[in-house]
Amino acid sequence: MSFSIGPYALAAPVVLAPMAGVTNAPFRELCRRYAPGLVYVNEMVMATPVVHGNAKTDRMISFGVGESPRSLQLYGSDPQIMAAAVHKLCDAGRVDHIDINFGCPAAKVTRRGGGAAVPARPELLRAILRAAVSNASPYGVPVTAKFRMGLFDDWLTHIRTGEVCAEEGVAAIALHARTVQQHYSGEARWDAIGELKQAVGSIPVLGNGDIWEADDAVRMMAATGCDGVVIGRGCLGRPWLFGDLVEVLSGRPAPESRVLGDVMVVMLDHARLLAAHMGENHAMRDFRKHTGWYMSGYPVGPDARRRFSHVSTLGELEDVLAGLDPTARIVPGGERIKRGHTNGPVRVSLPDGWLDDRYRASLLGDVTVPDDDDVMALSGG
Ligand SMILES: Cc1cc2nc3c(=O)[nH]c(=O)nc-3n(C[C@H](O)[C@H](O)[C@H](O)COP(=O)(O)O)c2cc1C
Repeated sequence: MSFSIGPYALAAPVVLAPMAGVTNAPFRELCRRYAPGLVYVNEMVMATPVVHGNAKTDRMISFGVGESPRSLQLYGSDPQIMAAAVHKLCDAGRVDHIDINFGCPAAKVTRRGGGAAVPARPELLRAILRAAVSNASPYGVPVTAKFRMGLFDDWLTHIRTGEVCAEEGVAAIALHARTVQQHYSGEARWDAIGELKQAVGSIPVLGNGDIWEADDAVRMMAATGCDGVVIGRGCLGRPWLFGDLVEVLSGRPAPESRVLGDVMVVMLDHARLLAAHMGENHAMRDFRKHTGWYMSGYPVGPDARRRFSHVSTLGELEDVLAGLDPTARIVPGGERIKRGHTNGPVRVSLPDGWLDDRYRASLLGDVTVPDDDDVMALSGG
């Protein structure tokens, strides 16, 4: 099954979803060990601090030695800022692939008409994409876009968004098959992925939403005709899912589920990689959320879970792990326990007047740039 993003031919049609606070260099390295040759997208960074220079953003744009392609998601609602950020990153040779985020549902973003609200303004969407593609293409850097179905059920924009992406030379598009209003609730609506593929067949369409086990990817691709899949929450606490996906998409059976002892080895590896990346103190605080994801579905009891949620050194982590039964098996269906974000539906925050018919009609040709100020540290998808 051949699949490429621009010049990058992937070993299987599988992409790690950008996840703020998760898909940093250590996590991507861990995933890559199970499946080299896929695209693993970095955490989202904001275009504005890329342009103006910001130490934290700079640290976030970090890639492993030999990581290829170096894939980064950018967020921005101002075409000029997007142009400058893309130019700066490409000119400095810091990235090989740029994904643009049009799916951020955070209220403080959509309230200003940014993030997942941008596709409701096709001309602004077009301007942002044009700015990105025209500044990336001289460097041979492909630009992709990731978006949701729309704001809510009576304002769906995924087809139009896909068409604009294709017209503007985007290399591939990914649909998280939920609306902003749905947030993370209910099931992802894979039929929307099929509709998008039918409507925009000229560029690769990646389906995203609720792939928890490798077989789900096969089902999604068969049901929708999409060209590949984007994996988010399914790999939280399960970085080996990428290896399983390569197996199953190559027609081989998925490996058996892991006993707890195998999971413990991966956890320690992950924690050590994080400690080397950000220092033990910060790493262990960050790692606490991962412990819950690694343990989901394993019968470890509340005491170990509580201790995990307080670990502050690698030694403490080792102590908690030493108290677990390495032969324990995951409960039936444990892989499918929802983790990461699960909340919704939400009230969609929009600029005043957005829902008035006249205002809404006027948005179609609107290129007024939403204000991205103070939109930092978002969990953006
Ligand atoms: C912790 C977390 C952080 C996320 N951050 C981003 C992000 O920065 N950019 C983005 O496009 N999507 C982000 N998302 C959304 C995912 O990329 C993905 O679209 C969503 O989780 C649905 O896919 P899934 O069902 O496979 O998880 C995030 C999701 C989670 C759980």
